[in-house]
Amino acid sequence: SGVAAIVPAAGSGLRLGAGVPKAFVDLGGRPMVLRAVDGLLESDVVGSVVVVVPSSEVTAAASLFPGRPVTVVPGGADRTASVAAGLRELASDVDVVLVHDAARPLTPPEVVRRVVAAVRSGLPAVIPVLPVVDTVKRVDAGGVVTATVDRSALRAVQTPQGFRASDLVRAYAGVTGALTDDAGLVEALGEDVHTVAGDPVAFKVTTAWDLRIAELLLAGAPV
Ligand code: CTP
Ligand code: MG
Repeated sequence: SGVAAIVPAAGSGLRLGAGVPKAFVDLGGRPMVLRAVDGLLESDVVGSVVVVVPSSEVTAAASLFPGRPVTVVPGGADRTASVAAGLRELASDVDVVLVHDAARPLTPPEVVRRVVAAVRSGLPAVIPVLPVVDTVKRVDAGGVVTATVDRSALRAVQTPQGFRASDLVRAYAGVTGALTDDAGLVEALGEDVHTVAGDPVAFKVTTAWDLRIAELLLAGAPV
């Protein structure tokens, strides 16, 4: 029995606009994908990691993770295809699988441990979440408000998301379109998706603003 993680890192990072794929952008001396992988391994509950990179980066990425239990494979046109490519590399003795964005380089190991512990306790799917603090409005195509959503029932979702490996493999076997999250597929199978506390520091680096915040956090007190 073992825990494996898939790290989708095959995006181009259009919104960041760094000119190189986002996962390979330097953050305080280490590429974001290496920080994401090391956060997983520092949890001490992850045994192996499959990193999914753009096909043009496979050779370069292979030397990025010296001494770590990492396999690098080429990804696909969208995140869903990249995770599917990672799933095909899973060893047969893996019974818990995590999916963790390379774009969340500062994710604390505690979040990883919370997710794995909850899956280990018997839950089929577990996601780290945060409360939504802003008021949320629904709008029409013209930007006019049509409703105020009850935010107390909303959660913002982070990664790593954790699954019984057999359930995630089954969920991906039936996948058709592109999704932004893996738990949605398991929901569609009719399985309960449970939540644990996320962490603000596990935020996703999407824009130049986010990268600046990540650099400032690293330059300041340890986070
Ligand atoms: N991802 C992937 N394969 C893709 C697209 C995305 O593995 N074809 C990964 C990204 O590398 C990232 C995670 O999925 O770690 C979340 O995606 P996102 O933040 O949207 O990253 P990008 O797609 O690279 O950024 P953008 O959408 O701005 O181009
Ligand atoms: Mg994207």
